[in-house]
Amino acid sequence: MNVLGFESSCDETGVALVATRPDGPPLLRAHALHSQVQMHEAYGGVVPELASRDHIRRVLPLTRRVLADAGATLAGVDVVAFTRGPGLAGALLVGAGVACALAAALGRPTLGIHHLEGHLLSPFLSADPPEFPFVALLVSGGHTQLMRVDGVGRYTLLGETIDDAAGEAFDKSAKLIGLGYPGGPALARLAALGRDDAYPLPRPLLHSGDLDFSFAGLKTAVMTQHRKLGASPTPAQRADLAASTQAAIVEVLVKKSLAALKAAGLQRLVVSGGVGANAELRRQLNEAARRRGLRVHYPELTLCTDNGAMIALAAAMRLQGGVAVAQHAYAFDVRPRWPLDQIDG
Ligand code: KG4
Ligand code: ZN
Repeated sequence: MNVLGFESSCDETGVALVATRPDGPPLLRAHALHSQVQMHEAYGGVVPELASRDHIRRVLPLTRRVLADAGATLAGVDVVAFTRGPGLAGALLVGAGVACALAAALGRPTLGIHHLEGHLLSPFLSADPPEFPFVALLVSGGHTQLMRVDGVGRYTLLGETIDDAAGEAFDKSAKLIGLGYPGGPALARLAALGRDDAYPLPRPLLHSGDLDFSFAGLKTAVMTQHRKLGASPTPAQRADLAASTQAAIVEVLVKKSLAALKAAGLQRLVVSGGVGANAELRRQLNEAARRRGLRVHYPELTLCTDNGAMIALAAAMRLQGGVAVAQHAYAFDVRPRWPLDQIDG
């Protein structure tokens, strides 16, 4: 079965074609992506109206490219999937509208997918796919959650951030240090040049005894520290502050992930979402896993941040699991706010 998937929840337009297989995870036949990062850079963050308009411009050319790359045609598409939420309402409506229009024209069913389920399952497209059950650390620009995953659609929330997401902590700290948008990758690059113990920064909720996170206080501490450096900090001071910030975020993520594995009695961790691309996070998790005999799985680096492949994949895995798709139901009701534990609601 061929699933065409659309992602348009935020600032990336993603389209992909995935095929189900009887004896293993679905196969990625082709995917294409357009990132709006450059367009939003001038504003220091995503401008929702501009995002929606750009999705409209990009989605059909990307679809044509995916079909051409896969050597497929629209007639060969069995199900059309799209990100139903969470995300920016206008942006979501573009993907949902296009998916429903195509599906209606083809006489095929649609499947609305939860964006975080896409991230969560994305390592199944990697060369080293995980097996259920596992603990998932979901770290994106909008979410930071630890989840117990027993199968497709069987997600139990173990802990989450009570304020900012880990990606937000990267982005906001990067902005304070004077780096561009999105700040995560830029801060990580600068951090590689600095000392991670140069400035004492808080590790919020590290010893809270639960699996929740809090990153808002860290941002304030970075701001205070940056002010202390005066109007023109040296390149070395900025690199030290970047390294110290990254160290604080990564330490909390690593320790809480290990605590979650212990609490769940599991040995397998899956890391996904944009911050999962962070090299220092991967290095520390791999090191901890090696010492404790644990397994860590990641999506391919190109599939860590938002993409269409993870949406088509999640739909294909749902279909393989026997989920029913609504025939001829083309009401594109998006859900900008949608907790993952209400996925079937
Ligand atoms: O998953 P994603 O593409 O979008 C959301 O669903 O939010 O995640 C984007 C987030 C941004 O906050 C970005 O700064 C962060 O992931 N990010 C990184 C890295 N690459 C992306 N953070 C730290 N290190 C990276 N290498
Ligand atoms: Zn995302």
